[in-house]
Amino acid sequence: MSNVNLEPIRNLALFNQPPEWEQADVKAAIQFVLNQIDRNLDRFTEQFPDASSTGNVYPAIGNIEWTSGFWTGMLWLAYEVTGDEKYRLTAEVQLASYRERAEQRLYTDTHDLGFLYSLSCVAAYKLTGNEEAKRVALLAADLLMERYFEKAGIVQAWGALDDPEQQGRMIIDCNLNLPLLYWASEVSGDSKYAAAAGAHIKQAAQYIVRDDGSTYHTFYMDVTTGKPKHGSTHQGYADDSCWARGQAWGIYGFPLSYIYTGDEALLELTKKVSNYYLNRLPDDLVAYWDLIFQDGTEQERDTSTGAVAACGLLELAKHLPVLDPSKRIYENAALHTLKSLSERYTSADTPESNGILLHGVYNKPRGMGIDECNIWGDYYYFEALVRISANWKLYW
Ligand code: GLY
Repeated sequence: MSNVNLEPIRNLALFNQPPEWEQADVKAAIQFVLNQIDRNLDRFTEQFPDASSTGNVYPAIGNIEWTSGFWTGMLWLAYEVTGDEKYRLTAEVQLASYRERAEQRLYTDTHDLGFLYSLSCVAAYKLTGNEEAKRVALLAADLLMERYFEKAGIVQAWGALDDPEQQGRMIIDCNLNLPLLYWASEVSGDSKYAAAAGAHIKQAAQYIVRDDGSTYHTFYMDVTTGKPKHGSTHQGYADDSCWARGQAWGIYGFPLSYIYTGDEALLELTKKVSNYYLNRLPDDLVAYWDLIFQDGTEQERDTSTGAVAACGLLELAKHLPVLDPSKRIYENAALHTLKSLSERYTSADTPESNGILLHGVYNKPRGMGIDECNIWGDYYYFEALVRISANWKLYW
């Protein structure tokens, strides 16, 4: 694991205190999310929102993207918050498409099976005891295991396993796919899934996190020798810059693996990754799409980074001892971020939009979803709001 050299958090004047943000404000923010979900419910029952919007409106697509689970996960959150059966029923209609996708191996040559199946089938099983959803989620975990290279100790992110462009490539986003594997071990009693996830997170900690606490987006391992090769980017500005959402996947993903492994070093590492992130935010705490950009740039922000990071900072804070002064600093940083998102970045004043958070960036280098809503931003914003208003049990 990279040396834990904590960069001190600079903006303590702000993060030492929680924001002035009342429970009623959070309730109103959640109500806005529920209103947008209601507006989308019919359109996105048999179909799913695309990964990002076009002109702030999500087109409808089949269950073909890496992002379908975010919409189904929002339905489960809405069901938990309201108890209204309409959300559960809609989420259950969608389970058939997840079953078909896993059974027929449709668009499954990706590690994103974790994002897809944790928020749909695992959530269904955890919340309602749905045995068929459990079976399908285990099937997805088996598909994910096919991507695990034992010698290198990593799950390959994208593409065919023999594709020279992709072979042995792990990416920081995968941290969020590992909970499907830990869960599979818990419910099946077979430790192989958790062993693979535990090996992968160690490799990510060692090679993806740089000494200064920033992260590579992707890192190649030699699958024959198990040796590290080199870091590179896919969605960031440069190989040696720090893609903002990747950093947020780190902030959330390392503490998720801590839950299942009990490895305290992962919490120290999360602090390091979080401090790097918090020290490179603009005044409104909503990062530009790569952390190389700071206040004064013309570049776009990525609101989804703020939403993912808020969930991660809350998860990190949850596991820190009461006597650790940074516990409250991370919690406050999450709250300030959420307040900023809710006051400045929702579609409340954009009535034509069926999204929730405006101003996300999917993939700037490839010209995809720039300054648009993206469905994972909406999901994590909702999850974060639920986290701060209820004793929420993770789907992850
Ligand atoms: N996991 C892909 C992305 O964050 O865009």
